[in-house]
Amino acid sequence: MSKHRVGIEALAVALPERYVELEDLAKARGVDPAKYTTGLGGKQMAVTDPGEDSVALAANAVGALLRATGQDPGQLGMLAVGTESGVDHAKPVASYVHGLHGLPRAMRTFDIQHACYGGTAGLMAAAEWIASGAAAGRKALVVCADVARYELLGPGEPTQGGAAVALLVSDTPDLLALDLGISGAATQHVHDFWRPSGRREALVDGHYSVKCYLEALGEAYRGWRQRALERELVRPGPTLPSEQLARLLFHVPFCKMAKKAYAHLRQVDLELAAGAPLSAEALAKESAALEAKLAGQVGSSLWLNARVGNAYTASLYLALAGLLETEASALAGQRLGLFSYGSGYCSELFSGVVGERAAARIAAAGLEELLARRERVDVAEYERLYRLAADAPEARAPRPGMFRFTGIDSEGRRQYAAG
Ligand code: HMG
Repeated sequence: MSKHRVGIEALAVALPERYVELEDLAKARGVDPAKYTTGLGGKQMAVTDPGEDSVALAANAVGALLRATGQDPGQLGMLAVGTESGVDHAKPVASYVHGLHGLPRAMRTFDIQHACYGGTAGLMAAAEWIASGAAAGRKALVVCADVARYELLGPGEPTQGGAAVALLVSDTPDLLALDLGISGAATQHVHDFWRPSGRREALVDGHYSVKCYLEALGEAYRGWRQRALERELVRPGPTLPSEQLARLLFHVPFCKMAKKAYAHLRQVDLELAAGAPLSAEALAKESAALEAKLAGQVGSSLWLNARVGNAYTASLYLALAGLLETEASALAGQRLGLFSYGSGYCSELFSGVVGERAAARIAAAGLEELLARRERVDVAEYERLYRLAADAPEARAPRPGMFRFTGIDSEGRRQYAAG
């Protein structure tokens, strides 16, 4: 493991201005609302119009981060955007964000695409750049920004959403110091979810994607577990290695997925500890105790995801923000496990220790205020916004300090307005 303390110093969140209640959507679709709220575990779903594209969301999160931290842009050496909602085949979202904020010219800017995993790839690249010494005291901005969009009326519809999370990565990890060199990764070329060029909606083999997610989780966890035991971050014994993590955070395409993930991870861990598959009796005992364990190790990380929906790359980091908003003080000095999954697939399970200043840092993100500023829309309005052409945003003034996409000029160049 690296001797350097590197990780997330601060984070900020940008949310779309509107949302729909999942109960309203269920009623409009003739579905029992309990399917969306209990079956999928959601409550609300962020609604975007074309003016809130991945660039606007990313730029809004970066603006919020710079304001909350007072960070001197001159100290930044890297801007990486993880997104699967890119707006141009050549020019990255990072380039627009760099320009909108007038960031220094002497820095690297690039996008990373691997479905929901892109943001984690950016975080690891930034953290390892700093730990290697190449950053020479500079910091990195890593932004996870996405709009999750499926076909209207399809099974994926209640799992849409959107958001951006901007992470300041440095050698002063006030929020989370990463255990570099410990993570476990797993990759496989599959078609569980994809979006051919030119399509606005993802195509997905939904139930297969759940299976792929769980398989990737088991594989990535085994890698992390082996290295964490070797480096004595966790110890063998009656307490499972995964139980020695104070909290477990997952990529959250819908909240119920985190429950499935937790159950699967425990089974993998129990079987590794026993060296054999679990008996039917052991599985039944485990299943009876699951809800209480889930509430303790995962529960407090899901409330923000339940109010935003899937935000692809940003989803895991919304879970981190939600957890710290609720429990940062109690968790200071304790280790978290984080699982990032991108369809396709690439996944990584990594860990980190919550910083002593995490409570102050997360308070500055103002999550409750962000949620309170949103406007509830009905299903008819959500459908109207959904159907707007991608290059025809609503004429709506950006809020102070925020950006909106306003249209494309005759040369195909995207235009943004600042509030
Ligand atoms: P579906 O087939 O319509 O739903 O779509 P279902 O029939 O499987 O029901 C869902 C759950 O609701 C089930 O619970 C039902 O029992 C329950 P489970 O058995 O799974 O625990 N249910 C009810 N509960 C209470 N009252 C009721 C009721 N009715 C049913 N009345 C599906 C579900 C997830 C497939 C769909 O929403 C979908 O395709 N979503 C998009 C894909 C997705 O999110 N995949 C997740 C894993 S892949 C991933 O996370 C990557 C991703 O984020 C993309 C990226 O990487 O970029 C997607």
